[in-house]
Amino acid sequence: MATLSRRALVAPAVLGLAAAPLAARAQASYPTRTVTIVVPFAAGGPTDTVARLIAEAMSRDLGQTVVVENVGGAGGTLGAARVAQARPDGYTLLLHHIGMATIPTLYRRLPYDPINGFETIGLITAVPMTLVARKDFPANTLQEAIAVIRRERDKLNYANAGIGAASHLCGLLLMSKVDAPMTTVPFRGTGPAMQELLSGRVDLMCDQTTNTTEQIRAGEIKVFAVTTRERVPSLPNVPTAAEAGLPDLEVTIWHGLYAPRGTPRPVIERLSRALQAALKDPKVVQRFADLGTTPVPEEQATPEFHRQFWMAEIARWRPLIQAAGQYAD
Ligand code: MLT
Repeated sequence: MATLSRRALVAPAVLGLAAAPLAARAQASYPTRTVTIVVPFAAGGPTDTVARLIAEAMSRDLGQTVVVENVGGAGGTLGAARVAQARPDGYTLLLHHIGMATIPTLYRRLPYDPINGFETIGLITAVPMTLVARKDFPANTLQEAIAVIRRERDKLNYANAGIGAASHLCGLLLMSKVDAPMTTVPFRGTGPAMQELLSGRVDLMCDQTTNTTEQIRAGEIKVFAVTTRERVPSLPNVPTAAEAGLPDLEVTIWHGLYAPRGTPRPVIERLSRALQAALKDPKVVQRFADLGTTPVPEEQATPEFHRQFWMAEIARWRPLIQAAGQYAD
């Protein structure tokens, strides 16, 4: 008994001593295998588009394959939970958007800690949104669309990616500004929602330019406004919501990269450097510009800036959500 317990006490101490340099070596050579970026929405949508561009560019800098895995559902909380609960070794990351700032208040019961479950790596980009409709929607301007929304109200279907999604947030803003509820139809992401809009099975959606630009340019959907203060250079003919007579419908969707809490600092720093390199990659810069967005400056693609920004965003959204009392649970 005594011998056993002495062994039990001694063994971890010896292992601990041996493990420390091993862990340091593992961190110094990181990454030695494929890195997975979890996207908490369906494939083919705006978060997925950003993630695939970033993953490809980061893999060039890291010298290892970086793959994207879509874990959609429950407004982005399923994918976030998957990463919060993953091993903190730098091989499972999360690329998420503004939902990281609204979910901690919107959801009061989650199977993971939506704030302390993560390390920040860096911000990526902020994407404008567009208010779009099926091609045969009976309106051509924002004012005409508002009149139809007020007249038809809950007979109209508004597609979103669940509570906490950017499309949900923009829809809430829109409905409160025009004072008319619509029936919301949640999808695992606005990739699949876009397919329903294209086929005319849903009426309206507010979605990021990273998922709407090509369909707008091809004339496959109608667009009424962009949600930014200035017009978006890649869609120069689309008015801002304020120009079209709806001031305050202003929202841009920031994105960031996260790792599970406890990921070693040297690994976070390596990932942050790879992210900064990816944001300067000419292919990323060009494709972002085509889709209406730009990479953040290098100093914002850092763990410190990202955390500060994220905390400020949580504080900005909390009173608004609490005042609206519109919780997911
Ligand atoms: C959203 O509405 O949050 C996004 O469009 C989600 C997605 O990437 O599908």
